Amino acid sequence: MNAEGRTRLNQTPEWAALGKHREQLGETHLRELFAADTARGTEYTLQAGDLYLDYSKHLVTDETLALLRELAAATDVSGLRDAMFRGEKINTTEDRAVLHTALRAPRNAVIEVDGENVVPAVHAVLDRMSAFSDRIRSGEWTGHTGKRIKNVVNIGIGGSDLGPAMAYEALRSYTARDLTFHFVSNVDGADLHEAVRDLDPAETLFIIASKTFTTIETITNATSARDWLLTGLRAGQEAVAAHFVALSTNADKVGDFGIDTANMFEFWDWVGGRYSYDSAIGLSLMIAIGPDRFREMLDGFHRIDEHFRTAPAETNAPLLLGLLGVWYGAFFDAQSHAVLPYSHYLSKFTAYLQQLDMESNGKSVDRDGNPVDWQTGPVVWGTPGTNGQHAYYQLIHQGTKVIPADFIGFAEPVQDLLPGLVAQHDLLMANFFAQTQALAFGRTPQEVRAEGVAEELVPHKTFKGNHPTTTILADELTPSVLGQLIALYEHKVFVQGAIWNIDSFDQWGVELGKVLAKKIEPVLTEGTGAEQLDSSTSTLVAKYRTLRGR
Ligand code: F6P
Repeated sequence: MNAEGRTRLNQTPEWAALGKHREQLGETHLRELFAADTARGTEYTLQAGDLYLDYSKHLVTDETLALLRELAAATDVSGLRDAMFRGEKINTTEDRAVLHTALRAPRNAVIEVDGENVVPAVHAVLDRMSAFSDRIRSGEWTGHTGKRIKNVVNIGIGGSDLGPAMAYEALRSYTARDLTFHFVSNVDGADLHEAVRDLDPAETLFIIASKTFTTIETITNATSARDWLLTGLRAGQEAVAAHFVALSTNADKVGDFGIDTANMFEFWDWVGGRYSYDSAIGLSLMIAIGPDRFREMLDGFHRIDEHFRTAPAETNAPLLLGLLGVWYGAFFDAQSHAVLPYSHYLSKFTAYLQQLDMESNGKSVDRDGNPVDWQTGPVVWGTPGTNGQHAYYQLIHQGTKVIPADFIGFAEPVQDLLPGLVAQHDLLMANFFAQTQALAFGRTPQEVRAEGVAEELVPHKTFKGNHPTTTILADELTPSVLGQLIALYEHKVFVQGAIWNIDSFDQWGVELGKVLAKKIEPVLTEGTGAEQLDSSTSTLVAKYRTLRGR
């Protein structure tokens, strides 16, 4: 029992029941489950918005699913969900509400934080963003010398980079092709260098995206970008206003940097960094796809918010995905989770999910600060599917690890694909369907022998199968569908954090590295203070200084 009177997760009867059930399930194979229920492929499916989910290829039975739902009920997932939607301060270590759902709430919704309805402010910022985006897209907004803006460079890191960068790629076919977009995050000067080297400063807009406006990587890159701009334009500080806008919660710091706060698009402390790309942080995306498409994306998010809030447990997609992850982590010792999109446009999707999931649920103490003795967030990884097939799928098929995987695919190719390339879509999707089939059912030694394979090669050509996958199928990768997909994963992560009883909305683990980097930097540049470092780090630093000729 913990301070809130909540029984520790692994001491609940529901957990014990799942453990017992796992033992009973033993090595039951998906081949057996499908043979026992020929309708499994239609029964173990659900529809959430435009997303069709097939979870039939999971190592679960009706009993497993019922026991998992009982675990969700015992851990009051729906209670915490409702508290989140109401604007309660469920991020307890930072004493903050968690209200990314308010970012996509309709204009007439009422969601209060500390007694104030936040929805009007959300829409006021969206309206300002829309007007600004239209001015850039139409060419009405010009740079300091009067030239039209042709290049947009977003400078941010973590949640202030990954979301817009991912969504820009995902929705590339909807973007204004007469503008170029660049996303600079790394404090390695090479990132900014490669982004701006071929750009004309007179035609370039920098969007400085930082919730806190104190993040060293972003402020360093923003300062270098300002130097590059002013040098290139041979202009003074007065040129900044036409070329720099800020996305932040921190007006004071934006002003200190020299950006007019009239050119700042605001968001709020109840928007977590990794949950922020549908806030002002999405400005670069809005410029790229236009305000109408951006709002379609927000509507997509909202559809899944409503699904998560109202769908019964049996057909609630984020709840189901969250529970399946808990099942594999706790009872199959799965350490990782692969997300494998069969769309080239989703090339940054899994990288985005890495922050969403791993920064949220990479925790080892519960909400009361007690160590957890159950698995929390998995390692999330993956790249677009067919490329992965020729790289690491071998390990998923025939390695020794349990790797649950999500396969995401679309019935239609994107709208502006060259007509000659449309036919390739069926080949892409044939791979998509074939892989989950192979992973689930494998190939038995008997089947291999029946093909006339030499006996000594039979073990090598046998596929055990029984690898669990979810298939997520949608009609087309539209702005709305992208919003739906992201909301699906946001709420899945939420469900898991609720069950594991961890705070999914803080990120204290990122702090130590930042603090130490600040201490080490003067050692590198000035050579003082090395004696305070451990012997490994001080030797490495000395070696570095020698190599740099210091
Ligand atoms: O990585 C830590 C973190 O605080 C993330 O949560 C956040 O998305 C990122 O840094 C960037 O922070 P900011 O938007 O304040 O610059």
